[in-house]
Parts: sequence; C-alpha cells; structure tokens
Amino acid sequence: MAKRVVLAYSGGLDTSVAIRWMIQEWGVEIIAVLVDVGQDPSSSESFEDIKARALAAGALECVIVDARREMAEEFCAKAIAANALYEGKYPLVSALSRPVIVRHLVDQARKFNAQAVAHGCTGKGNDQVRFEVGTAALAPELEVLAPARNWGMTRADSVDFAEKWNIPIKATKDKIYSIDENLWGRAIECGAIEDPWAAPPEEPYTLTRVTTLEPVEVTVSFTEGVPTKLDGVATDLAELIATLNLRAGSTGFGRLDMVENRRVGIKSRELYECPAALALIAAHADLEDMVLERDLAHEKMRLSIRWAELVYDGMWFSPLKEALDAFVSDSQRHVTGDVRLRFEAPGLLRIVGRRSPAALYDYGLATYDAADTFRHSDSEGFVRIYGLGVKTWAQRQGAKNATPPSP
Ligand code: ARG
Repeated sequence: MAKRVVLAYSGGLDTSVAIRWMIQEWGVEIIAVLVDVGQDPSSSESFEDIKARALAAGALECVIVDARREMAEEFCAKAIAANALYEGKYPLVSALSRPVIVRHLVDQARKFNAQAVAHGCTGKGNDQVRFEVGTAALAPELEVLAPARNWGMTRADSVDFAEKWNIPIKATKDKIYSIDENLWGRAIECGAIEDPWAAPPEEPYTLTRVTTLEPVEVTVSFTEGVPTKLDGVATDLAELIATLNLRAGSTGFGRLDMVENRRVGIKSRELYECPAALALIAAHADLEDMVLERDLAHEKMRLSIRWAELVYDGMWFSPLKEALDAFVSDSQRHVTGDVRLRFEAPGLLRIVGRRSPAALYDYGLATYDAADTFRHSDSEGFVRIYGLGVKTWAQRQGAKNATPPSP
C-alpha cells in the first residue's frame, strides 16, 4: 500500500508542484490540508479554486479548515499578553501561524491514517524548523517530508513542471515577492528588497496604503490581558484584529523594514505590515504600565524577549515556552482597562490615554499639587541607606574626580 502523506497546502506554486512531484518521485498518496489562518485568498480566487488546483495536481482529497478564531484566541492572544516582538520589532506573523497549521496537519494525519506530513519550505528558512519541531512535539511517530528541500528546481523549473502536468497555476516565472499572510499581518521577502540598501517599494503593501489623512481614533478595552472591545463594542478577537488592520492600516501605520536573524544562521532583509499586531501590543504594554507592580513588570519584559525567541525558533510546543505561558497568564489577572490610540498618517501611532479599575497609578502619590499624600520625610532615610554603599566606597577609595574636562 502506498504511503499516505498529509501536506500543508497553501495553493501557491510550490505546494501545488509538491503534490505531483511527491506522487511521481516517491509514489505516495497526498491529502492536501489548507488551513485558513486569516490569509486573504487573492481577490480573484476562492478557497474552492485552490481546492480544485490541489485535486488537479493529483491530491486524493483537499481539506479546508477554518482556524481563524483559533489563531486569534489561542495564538495572537498569547502574543499580545507577552508583548511579543522578536528582536524588539517583529510581531511573529508567520511564526505564530505555523503551530496552528501543524496542529491541524497532525489532526488530519490521524483522521486519514497517514504515516507522514509534508511542507513546501526550502532549507533556508525558519518555517521548516517550525513545521518539523512542532510535528515532533505533537506526533513524534510521524515522518516529515520536505520535497522542496530535495527537488533542486528553480522557480522557472517549477513553472515548467506545473505546465507539463496541467496544474492550473497563476504564478509566472517572474513573480517578484514571496508573501506569507494571516490575521496577524503580512511578511514580504525576495525581489528588490534582497538589497538591504534599496528603499522598500510601495507595490507589495496591501494593508498599509494611506487612504485617509484624517487622524483615526480607537479605544481598545482589555479584559485580563485580552482585547475584548473596540470603541466600547464587544468584539471577538479575530474580528477585532481584522477591523483594526483596516482602520490603523488606512493611515499607513504598521510597516516594518528589518534585517533579522533567522534560526538557520542567515541574516535576511524583510518587510512586514502588521497594523493590528503592533497597535495591540503597544496598547497592551501601555495598560500594563498602569497596573503591573514594578518588579513583575521588569521581569516580564525580560521574559518577553525569551518568549518571542522561542516562538520564532519553532518552540511553540515546548516545556520552556509552556512554563513561560504560565508566568505570563498569571501576570495578566489585573490587566483590565481601556487604552486610547490615535493614528496619524503617514504611519504614526500615539497612545493618548489609558484607564483601569486595577490601576496602581495613584493621583495622591503622583501629584505635585496640594492633594499630595506622599510622606516626603520618609525619603530622607531611604535615600541615605540606598546610597550608603557608594558613599562608604568613596570615603575609603577617594571620591571620583568631579572636575569637568577643560574645554
Ligand atoms: N522571516 C519571517 C519569519 O521567519 C517571515 C517568513 C515568511 N515566510 C515565507 N514563506 N515567506 O517569521
């Protein structure tokens, strides 16, 4: 009996070619699985068209799974709670979607009694790591196949291969960008941007074209760290993200141009557009400034860096990442309140207000006017003891030279 393989299918050139190539070269049966994580099938195409392509390429079956809510509520929500930005900038757009896809691949592999799963990644990126380590964590018994790492075809060869096998692709030999997208944003690679000195071209952007010059104001409400309302209206998270992408994106907010460090040792220049992701993380972090006690806030900032690295590196399903999730989740008990965001074209976000029933901000302690409740005299002894070590050191070793350099 032929080996049965469940393929993570996007509908693009590589995964379409992968279906026929694996059948021809490896004699396997293919079940294609298309996971909807909020990508926009390009305007002229529906998921049904994409399914027809998988079947034309030779798949036995093409299963379409709607995972938008799951992506939002389990994956984006955790990234918001962690304020997760890889290398301080990238909100993990592609990295967050891969574990969602892996979970469904494994689920379908079990339903179809498959012995292996497959992906269309090359050997140069992070996504192969995320697919394979993720699968190892959820189903260590499954084999993982990576045809695009084996076939040695250029893009032009793949287009020829598709033509030879009558696979109805839309791609041409001169496609410029490689784009990955989901609810959390879009990642753009290849083409002219491979020169890190070249300014980003306007054409690959779709979410962040400036269409309004008026400032856009939005109030986001959080409940225990999760965004739950937009302008006072309860909204499920997937919809809230999609709406915020449109509203913030219309002012041009949400673009990143960065050179990042891939897990496989390559530096790569990438463009991202992720208006909702960046806005929600900024708003959430701002609310935390109001409600988290200082030591907890500082420790959380350190762990946030590690959380983002682990997720970037394909360790979503790992013991350390899960332990950090427990820390983050506990830290969110009082992260409830409202944040006012103002977007101004082109591409500026200012957070202009925040309030919370759990705020540790205390007007009496903070104010410099007559309502002051702070006991100033307490500071005298505190500062003396706090600086005692430095003072003793200066007395013993000689004070630092206080003379400024002569001009
Ligand atoms: N460099 C980003 C990451 O590793 C984006 C990857 C995009 N993937 C793609 N197949 N275009 O998360």
